[in-house]
Amino acid sequence: MCGVVAVIGKQNAGKLVIEGLKKLEYRGYDSAGIASVSSETLNIVKSEGKLINLINKLSEVSNSSLKSVNAIAMGHTRWATHGNVSVENAHPLTSENRVAVVHNGIIENYAFIKNKLMSEGYSFKSQTDTEVLPHLFTKHIKLGNNLLQAGRLVLKDIKGAFAFVAMSLDFPGELFVSRNSSPLAIGLGDKSNFVGSDAHSIDHLTQKIIYLEDGDHALINFEDVQIFNMNNEKVDRKIINIKAEIGLITKGGYRHFMEKEIFEQPSVIPQTISTFVKDNYEIKIDLNKLGFKNKNTLLISAAGTSYYAAMVGKYWIEQLADLPVIIDLASEYRYRKPSVFGQSAMLVISQSGESLDTLMALRHGKELGLNTNAIVNVEGSTIDREVDYSLYTRVGAEIGVASTKSFMSQLVILFLIAVALGKKFNNITTAQTQKICLNILALPSAIAQMLNMENEIKLVAQNIKNAKSIIFLGRGLLYPLALEGALKLKEISYIHAEGFAAGEMKHGPIALIEDQVPVIMFLVSDGNEDKAISNLQEAYSRGAKIILIADKNCIQKASFAHHKIEIPNFETDFKSLLSPFLMAIPAQLLAYHVANERGTDVDQPRNLAKSVTVE
Ligand code: M6R
Repeated sequence: MCGVVAVIGKQNAGKLVIEGLKKLEYRGYDSAGIASVSSETLNIVKSEGKLINLINKLSEVSNSSLKSVNAIAMGHTRWATHGNVSVENAHPLTSENRVAVVHNGIIENYAFIKNKLMSEGYSFKSQTDTEVLPHLFTKHIKLGNNLLQAGRLVLKDIKGAFAFVAMSLDFPGELFVSRNSSPLAIGLGDKSNFVGSDAHSIDHLTQKIIYLEDGDHALINFEDVQIFNMNNEKVDRKIINIKAEIGLITKGGYRHFMEKEIFEQPSVIPQTISTFVKDNYEIKIDLNKLGFKNKNTLLISAAGTSYYAAMVGKYWIEQLADLPVIIDLASEYRYRKPSVFGQSAMLVISQSGESLDTLMALRHGKELGLNTNAIVNVEGSTIDREVDYSLYTRVGAEIGVASTKSFMSQLVILFLIAVALGKKFNNITTAQTQKICLNILALPSAIAQMLNMENEIKLVAQNIKNAKSIIFLGRGLLYPLALEGALKLKEISYIHAEGFAAGEMKHGPIALIEDQVPVIMFLVSDGNEDKAISNLQEAYSRGAKIILIADKNCIQKASFAHHKIEIPNFETDFKSLLSPFLMAIPAQLLAYHVANERGTDVDQPRNLAKSVTVE
């Protein structure tokens, strides 16, 4: 993970770097640091914890050249991989106070390089993999190489996924940058140039962006950016004009971004819907582009919450289109030799468009000859740029680490793909398609009604906030929601939580049930509700605290439940087919309120980052 920003050729470069880092905290927030060059000195300031600690530290550094007019600076916000969270392990990492490097990714062969460098007399101050980079630069510069030559030799030495920026006092007006699998954007200015982990981090400085390709490296000075491919050939990469996002996104009066993002769903989901539903009942998704000239098996791959959206998608596509769907965790797919028998298309799902596991799964699918597509929120992200066809969720930036509105919007697109495929392959009629489209248009108001249940959910949150472990149950379309409910709760409240298919309880997990363990079930009347209620009864008989979030009919049938939260009254077809949309709301609100009750850092929970760009 981690975010890097660099500025060359601008007054107050340090300050501009900090502005960029503020926009990159989604990539990691356990420590931060900044380096700049002034009067032949390398100035480094680093601090543990969030960026605000670095900003405070900078304001205390008296007469710091970092506060003054510096023409070259670079900064970093860290998500620890190698070495604990400490000032020593924060970036920039340096060598002999002459070279500094900020790095995102992992140098996989660092242990071997470190041993070699130590035997050559280099001493290490951190436990990071990154520290080999500045020492390698020093070593190659000492041998008489300029920054470009030294950088190329460093690239020969290292293996892994990385994006890094290096500066050296021996070449004070230059930066060497390179990327392999981790994202890196270069911004072009007037007698100034910039580097950022994403384009948004430098859009306060320029709208002209170049994305480096894998294996590229570049030498950047005030006036020029020279880009080379992995064979050291000079290359031109496309200059893209991006739109600057207006300032920093605010919480808009809410306590947390997550709360805001939950509550803005009724107003942003219409943006997803209107991109694909035209004239009220026509779905504009190019199924040929998606790889469906003929009936084929669809492969969907993703991570975390996006994977749970894929699970729901599988159930919908099988039900509405009678097409086989295989879902695969991106982190697993990449390292298998999967059979592509009967498959022509792969769909990856990623809010950020930068999850490395998902990107690598996509590349693997491509190598295996599949047509590649993505459901993605961030236009211009690496996944967006690499797939054959992107379907944009268009819900605006999601800042809270917990995915909420993105999940909802991914479900919308998956549902529409299922309906479009169902229509194309004559599994559903035009009349049914129109009815379903009208239902989807009614979705934002149904979500708004679900949000009205907040106070009841708050009471449940107060009741379970001290639990050691919580179990979520669901069946059918609501099984993935049980998994999502558990993920959401554990990532922001730090309470152990697991989701299970209700019918699986008796095959093992029921052993976890003891007195007062909260068991939360999402349930709607879909014809199979009696089976789910029997599963719930089994947990009740063993002393579990039963929390049922369900429609009226189910609540009446499961009157034994300790807490019953009745969802609003929706038409039967609507609620059974669209139940994942509805139940996403209590899953999100419950996690949010339990976390709030426990006083955790809701938007930036420990050990996590918004965009997971390491394997
Ligand atoms: O950006 P992506 O959708 O690729 O992210 C995938 C997961 O890392 C993400 O959904 C993660 O599980 C969320 N923090 C869950 O709320």
